[in-house]
Amino acid sequence: MLAEAATHVRLAFPDPWLRQYSVKANDVPAVIAAVASHGFGANVVSSGEWAAARKAGLPNDRITLEGIGKTPGDLRAAARAAREGRPLRWVAIESPEEAAALATIVRRQRGVRLDVLYRLNPDVVPETLAGLAVGAGASKFGMTETELASAIEAGGGPDGLLRPRGIHLHVGSQLGAVDAWRDAVRRALAVAALWRGSIESFDTLDVGGGFPVFEAGVPAPTPARFARELPQLVEVVPPDRRPTRLAVEPGRFLVARAGWLVARVLHVRDRGGRQVVLDAGMTELVRPALYGARHPILPLTSLGKSLDDGPTPSLAPVTASPAAFEPTRVEGPICESTDSLGVHDLPPLRRGDLVAIADAGAYAASQSSTYNGRPRPPQVLLDSRRGLTLGRRRLA
Ligand SMILES: Cc1ncc(COP(=O)(O)O)c(C=O)c1O
Repeated sequence: MLAEAATHVRLAFPDPWLRQYSVKANDVPAVIAAVASHGFGANVVSSGEWAAARKAGLPNDRITLEGIGKTPGDLRAAARAAREGRPLRWVAIESPEEAAALATIVRRQRGVRLDVLYRLNPDVVPETLAGLAVGAGASKFGMTETELASAIEAGGGPDGLLRPRGIHLHVGSQLGAVDAWRDAVRRALAVAALWRGSIESFDTLDVGGGFPVFEAGVPAPTPARFARELPQLVEVVPPDRRPTRLAVEPGRFLVARAGWLVARVLHVRDRGGRQVVLDAGMTELVRPALYGARHPILPLTSLGKSLDDGPTPSLAPVTASPAAFEPTRVEGPICESTDSLGVHDLPPLRRGDLVAIADAGAYAASQSSTYNGRPRPPQVLLDSRRGLTLGRRRLA
């Protein structure tokens, strides 16, 4: 599934596009390595994610650092790597203050210049959940054009220690349509063209991620559908002002479908309808509690009997009589009422039965917490050649 998704993105954004996997979706080194084997670099937001990308075997020149929460330590590490002759591909700057701080750090390294992008807030209305609409004008992410100009100046201008290479953009996650993305890319191309006039090195546009993964039956634009918007957007930019280096940084689309969260039934009750409580919930998969995201749930066993003989959960109908399925409210085990996974059609269940929660390869384990004193979930990888391997052990 991961290979299929990676191929889809590669065909939509073929070379010379730079494809940077957004590691925040799933930061297990073996997963990063699997994505990288399909022609992807890594996009990281912290020294921790950077270390995971290195552990996956990626060299710094295939890694980009962005994020609103970069610490002075992260910035120092980026400057140090450049001084040691193994610079990151670029660092994306979030504010004039951050540009000034990084310039000061780089100055201390003597003789070092760092390639940087500047993150634009595109001020659009992304077709997604409010919590994922980071390209909205009021969001905390990215800069206005005025702030961006101040940031370039704080980085030392065209010949500064921060070498301005272009614009970084991310419209939002789970984009349900291409319209806001198209508006944002148009805006970013215009801003980049303006700067290209005075800064020769300003040659890059990174359009971010956001390709959606919805439940079966919910229409979703594919990466190819997004890519189809690009020629007409680039065409109107004068040829000598167009970016010559384009990048994309998807996360969810590459890994969400490849991951399943397996949970066991703890309690079955009648609450004016059937209710089951699982042993996995918001500590392993916070998205439903955080912003009402919906993940399909498939039964693996019913009353102790297996429903699927295959090695992975199958979307094919299970062998229990469909008549036996009934709407079931599925709850998590955490001491919070919002720890709920919604209503799903499930067969008869009893304590100990297993279910598989779908689309859990992205923003599940990477957002896990130890709330209620629970250990973080282990991650097991299934590969057609290597069989089952432990990607990350259970962490207390
Ligand atoms: C800057 C940036 N790029 C890329 C991504 C990846 O987004 P997605 O997983 O929706 O493709 C994110 C996700 O939050 C992001 O913030």
